[in-house]
Amino acid sequence: MSNSRFDVVVIGAGPAGYVAAIRCAQLGLTVACVDEWLNKGEPTLGGTCLNVGCIPSKALLESSHLFASSRNDFPDHGINVKGVSIDVNQMMARKNKVVNELTNGINSLFKINKITRVHGHARLSPEKIVKVYDRGSPHTRETLEADNIIIATGSSAIKLERAPKTDGYIFDSSGALEFDTVPKTLGVIGAGAIGLELGTVWSRLGSEVVLLECMDTFLPAADRHISRAAFRSYQQQGLDIRLDARLLSTSVKQKKVHVTYEDTRGAQQIKFDKLVVAVGRKPNSDYLFGDEMALEIDEREFIHVNKYCETSVPGIYAIGDVVRGPMLAHKGSEEAVMVAERIAGQKSAVNYDLIPSVIYTHPEVAWVGKTEHACNTAGIPINVGMFPMAASGRAKAAGATDGMVKIIAHQETDRILGVHICAAQASELIAQAVTAMEMGASAEDIALTVFAHPTLSESIHEAALSVHNRAIHVKN
Ligand code: FAD
Ligand code: NAI
Repeated sequence: MSNSRFDVVVIGAGPAGYVAAIRCAQLGLTVACVDEWLNKGEPTLGGTCLNVGCIPSKALLESSHLFASSRNDFPDHGINVKGVSIDVNQMMARKNKVVNELTNGINSLFKINKITRVHGHARLSPEKIVKVYDRGSPHTRETLEADNIIIATGSSAIKLERAPKTDGYIFDSSGALEFDTVPKTLGVIGAGAIGLELGTVWSRLGSEVVLLECMDTFLPAADRHISRAAFRSYQQQGLDIRLDARLLSTSVKQKKVHVTYEDTRGAQQIKFDKLVVAVGRKPNSDYLFGDEMALEIDEREFIHVNKYCETSVPGIYAIGDVVRGPMLAHKGSEEAVMVAERIAGQKSAVNYDLIPSVIYTHPEVAWVGKTEHACNTAGIPINVGMFPMAASGRAKAAGATDGMVKIIAHQETDRILGVHICAAQASELIAQAVTAMEMGASAEDIALTVFAHPTLSESIHEAALSVHNRAIHVKN
């Protein structure tokens, strides 16, 4: 058994852990990063995000978008392509290549930054000792000691007892990224980010997709104008989203998944070729340390941290999905940079009020800051500006007229409090809003800015003008 000492040991090499390791190394600290992920039996860096999350889902969204466009949009442009078909194996091979190139890229960054990479399961003991085990072995293979430990162990899909994973029939999100054929019918439990993105992938490729969502509100975290616009657009594309649908049972019979759920009309039955469970994720805080560790865990199993990601034990930090806040890669990465810089003696902080959310469907949905409902509930006086994509010349030229941009500004100060977008490329558009808000911009600041024509970004300009009833291309 080997024993080594570092300034920092990072547990987990997802977008929180690997960024923490790189930033610590850049700051001159000696770093080891322990991770247990195996991709097809091979140790791989990148965690959920690179292996089974952000990246493979976007690769499949891109492929399926092109396929659907070639069928639905090309004829309108006068482009005649006959006999378009989808080769699922090739689509998956491309997705795997994208994943491999990126995960290998992290490995190269580790080498460049002289980060010691350790594969195995880490357990944390008092005195900041990290013991590393081989999978399934009770024996410690390696012991790492450090002045500072950063826990970045991420999250795992929540399982439903009523819909247990069943080979070939009932899957979690990772399984839904690996289908080898397009199912004729696909059920998805949960109409959140994963349900919508992966439901969209398979729907575009030809599956009849039904999403069963237990809440009676669609995308409750989004602004209501935006969630309504997105809901309409998804329904028009053929996603059958059933709200207020509580799962009662599942069973596999005659090569189908039989699902019983209850809605306002009573018990309903439906059958699918495949079923995906996407009902949220839970933090990986178990099997990480024993009772002898004085680390506080909250009632939802998140490791308790303050705004600087310090745990209840000095010198031990926790970041990413394993702590409170949105389970988003960029949130974890920003926490990683903050913690690394604070360990190095800097005063960095994360602005938790301005973390953008995106759903990568078509149109995309993106938002940052407060919703109109949240402002009203908090009694904040606001002005609201809206601009429909149908009035944007560029959106019309692109055939992407669904959705809108909505800007919420404080009535007295005009400071922008929230920006909400349902539009093609909303994921890119929202960055302008985050930048403006980070700099404390007012709606007037954006209204006075020159935007190139014709661009989708002009919709942000028009929405800002509309805050003061000055939009040009739409009735105020
Ligand atoms: P993870 O990425 O989960 O990494 C944790 C790592 O720690 C893993 O490699 C794990 O093996 C390792 N680990 C855990 N316990 C131990 C241990 N005891 N010892 C050693 N290693 C350990 N977010 C976005 O922002 N944008 C998106 O588009 C997006 N799309 C997604 C799509 C899907 C299908 C899914 C499932 C998630 C998506 N997410 C997206 C969420 C995003 O993947 C997570 O927020 C992000 O990966 C969290 O990063 P993390 O570093 O905290 O944890
Ligand atoms: P989610 O929390 O976004 O959505 C889960 C949905 O399932 C909710 O609407 C919930 O009401 C519903 N649900 C829960 N239990 C149910 C039940 N028994 N029956 C029916 N519906 C039920 O979680 P999701 O989609 O699993 O994603 C997990 C995490 O990954 C999210 O926190 C998200 O932030 C992240 N992610 C982010 C993406 C992005 O940024 N584009 C893409 C995919 C995931």
